[in-house]
Amino acid sequence: MSLPQLFSEEHSADVVAASFENTPDPRLKQVLSSLVRHLHAFVKDVELTEDEWGVAIDFLTRTGQMSNDVRQEFILLSDVLGVSMLVETINHRTYGASTESTVLGPFHMVESPRREVGDNIALDDKGTPCLVSGQVTGPEGEPLAGASVDVWQTNEDGFYDVQQPGIQPAGNLRGLFTADEQGRFWFRSVVPRHYPIPDDGPVGQLLAATSRHPHRPAHLHFIVAAPGYRPVTTHVFVADSPYLDSDAVFGVKESLIRAVPEVDDPARASGAGLPNPFRTLTFDITLLRADQARPAAQPAQVQPTLVRGASGVMS
Ligand code: BEZ
Ligand code: FE
Repeated sequence: MSLPQLFSEEHSADVVAASFENTPDPRLKQVLSSLVRHLHAFVKDVELTEDEWGVAIDFLTRTGQMSNDVRQEFILLSDVLGVSMLVETINHRTYGASTESTVLGPFHMVESPRREVGDNIALDDKGTPCLVSGQVTGPEGEPLAGASVDVWQTNEDGFYDVQQPGIQPAGNLRGLFTADEQGRFWFRSVVPRHYPIPDDGPVGQLLAATSRHPHRPAHLHFIVAAPGYRPVTTHVFVADSPYLDSDAVFGVKESLIRAVPEVDDPARASGAGLPNPFRTLTFDITLLRADQARPAAQPAQVQPTLVRGASGVMS
């Protein structure tokens, strides 16, 4: 009786990949086979010890145990390993034609309250006043009248409202706006602050063990959508914030950084309903049309993939 290729150090990935041969869903087959090949190459590359394997299993177990309805430690792990940003970036390629996307993050957990253009979203009136404005357009610069603009941000202490119930009013620094006929939106807010991602779990231990800090630079989150166009989930980052060069979740893209200059103009301040002086942040957003072809990876941006040599061993 001739046996199939049996498991060995040399042929491990081939043998396990072959076990997926009859997977009916071709995409599942492709993903699992590739996952196994990369995992086996990694284990061989570092010659993983049994103790290290045990530590990894314990780490992943605790990551699952830390997760619940309001805390997703696995997503946080994906974030600090750069996987969330890679998936986001691959799936929302723009090549300069539209506003770049970045991670959603865990704090869009409540529906943003509906607000009118011009409203003040700083319900507790604390912080450095800031007038935020912009225009939503399509790829040819056409204004997207009635676009929806969903915004959420931290207060000046670096906390979202959901992190400080009883301290911040519910819905503080959140708003769902409808852009005007010219696709324009504006609202009153405060300058957000940099803050640490939740670091009291296994992901925080990983950051500490690798001498990495948990901080994200100051930003406002946006989800912008218009019928017939591709929605974008993104941030605008405050130009003078610490951690722009070392975001714990790798979310910063240069095209998303904006200066937030101070304006000292009593007439403008009273027109906007803000104390003088105040800061201003302008963030225009361009959406791709829904029927626009999704740009493919440019050859130079494709990472070299693992190539199977004649020996069947990854090289
Ligand atoms: C955020 O920006 O809200 C965020 C993103 C990823 C992990 C934690 C927080
Ligand atoms: Fe955030």
